[in-house]
Amino acid sequence: MTQLKTKSSPQIAPQASYEKTIHKLKILLKLATPYRRPLTFAILSLILAAGMVLSLGWGLRHLIDHGFGQEDAASLDSTLLLMGFAVVLLAIASFGRSYYIGWVGERVVTDLRQRVFNHLLSLDVGFFELIRPGELVSRITADTTLVQVVIGTSAAVAVRNFLLLVGGLVMMMATSLKLTLLTLIIVPFVLIPILIYGKRVRHLSRKNQDQMADVGGFLEETIGGIRTCQAFMHEDHDRAAFRDHTEKAFGVAIQRIHLRSLLACLVMTLVFGGVSLVLWSGSRDVIVGTLQAGQLSAFIFYAVVVASSAGSFSEIFADLQRAMGALDRLRELLATAPSLQPRDETIFRKLPTPSSGVIALHNVCFAYPNNPERPILNNITLSAAPGEKIAIVGPSGAGKSTLFSILLRFYAPQSGGVYLDGVDVRDVDVKEVRSRMGLVPQDPMIFSQSLYENILYGRPNATETDVWKAAELAHLLDIINGLPQGIHTLLGTKGVRLSGGQKQRVAIARAILRNPSLLLLDEATSALDSENEHLIQQSLNHLMATRTTLVIAHRLATVLKADRIIVMDRGEIDAVGTHAELISEDGLYRRLAMMQYAENDPPKRWMA
Ligand SMILES: Nc1ncnc2c1ncn2[C@@H]1O[C@H](COP(=O)(O)OP(=O)(O)O)[C@@H](O)[C@H]1O
Ligand SMILES: [Mg+2]
Repeated sequence: MTQLKTKSSPQIAPQASYEKTIHKLKILLKLATPYRRPLTFAILSLILAAGMVLSLGWGLRHLIDHGFGQEDAASLDSTLLLMGFAVVLLAIASFGRSYYIGWVGERVVTDLRQRVFNHLLSLDVGFFELIRPGELVSRITADTTLVQVVIGTSAAVAVRNFLLLVGGLVMMMATSLKLTLLTLIIVPFVLIPILIYGKRVRHLSRKNQDQMADVGGFLEETIGGIRTCQAFMHEDHDRAAFRDHTEKAFGVAIQRIHLRSLLACLVMTLVFGGVSLVLWSGSRDVIVGTLQAGQLSAFIFYAVVVASSAGSFSEIFADLQRAMGALDRLRELLATAPSLQPRDETIFRKLPTPSSGVIALHNVCFAYPNNPERPILNNITLSAAPGEKIAIVGPSGAGKSTLFSILLRFYAPQSGGVYLDGVDVRDVDVKEVRSRMGLVPQDPMIFSQSLYENILYGRPNATETDVWKAAELAHLLDIINGLPQGIHTLLGTKGVRLSGGQKQRVAIARAILRNPSLLLLDEATSALDSENEHLIQQSLNHLMATRTTLVIAHRLATVLKADRIIVMDRGEIDAVGTHAELISEDGLYRRLAMMQYAENDPPKRWMA
């Protein structure tokens, strides 16, 4: 798995950076190629608009030299009429350019967002532990927006200005070669500061973006943990921390804006200084008689067009650089491959149907990718027969939940094999493996949708009758009756409208709807009232009756009912047996059980 770079990469040589820019420009253009028609309209509009602007200069020259100069009213009328016509065309072309370029920009960014999101969902769970959610959010929203700005606005402005620059230059030459040459001498004086300052602006804008990502991450964490924040009266501390984050970002932004403004100021000064110089030289030619007044006017018109086009390039370049940075980060994300799927999909085997529900682990060793030095599971070997109920017990941190993650193929073990229905899961599509399993997690995730949709999550193509049946079997009907809009009540972010026990029953309803051949149950440790516990037990009994079940057990009732108990400790299997067998041995199980009995009378809950 490639780790994403979050900090700016070291400075690269200008030559390489230039080639890279061209290369990335091509990538940017490629994003827009599926939309040839609007793109063609946009480009035609751009060319038409630029042509019309340039023709105005020609009109000006005609107006002064023929209309005014020769006091020819008819020529004046016809020239003005033509210029009016050109302005109408210019207006229409401006609409076309703005609309179609905007369209392509929005379309491309929508595609990009969908692509990145679709790809994200295919990545391993481990990937999401290496990158902050806030950073991913900012990539899909902010970074794509940066790309959109370039495609939807800056690119059009760049093309328009480029056309005006080239066209203007040609017209300048056609009007007066001498003045054009004089102008060209001035160009390097404009370009050099652009190059020097542009680079510094780019560096700062990258720094600025990194800081905005920090701000986003902090925001997300604080808002996500608002209850913890308020319960610990951490508000003032968080306010101060947020102020620091944003002020730091402000500081860098101001540095960038300062440099950029300086750049604009410098460009303007140099350009208009140069124009004055040319104007002075041109006026002398008019006085001497080697140049006509209309020619000089047209030349100045073109020079202003060229200068303002050139002047805007620095800003466009900065936009482009920011978008390139964003595009880099997006591409990096798209290039991250899931590490669990074999590369060659043709070797996939099918799991036998119907599933027997046999699951086996053979010498499984595992360490989390974010902490590869620390083994969490050591040589775990176990198997479950069809329909068997296995309780897994052990102290907190023993690796019980990790074992479930391995079965669900959230992670691949470093060594050893996992077999489902007799097939090595490495040879099977991850989705097919998961389709055989139903997970009821310890702290179930409730999405900010309706209760109905939350149950439907278990099997999105289920019918309404199935959903109601699952709700009934999970003893959710009393909850439904208590909600203002019944089963269609929105549950709020992370299901704030439900209690812990109710959430667990929703998770059980999902599993019932799913009807998996292997049930993975991580019992809730939070204290449930006996009413709730009774209801959950009833729902579970129904669910466990017909399938192989692995349950991380905290309650004595569950342990007693299991066919077999596996005692886990520090990533290893400490003992296996029934309650009666294990309690008669002088081992971890008995010690834990004794502790539990001593603390709870009557003993209800198992070890946490
Ligand atoms: N995503 C993770 N990344 C790194 N370490 C983890 C992760 N999840 C759990 N661990 C570590 O693995 C060990 C076992 O955790 P877990 O399987 O959740 O234990 P249990 O469910 O038995 O309480 C713990 O020491 C925990 O710190
Ligand atoms: Mg656990």
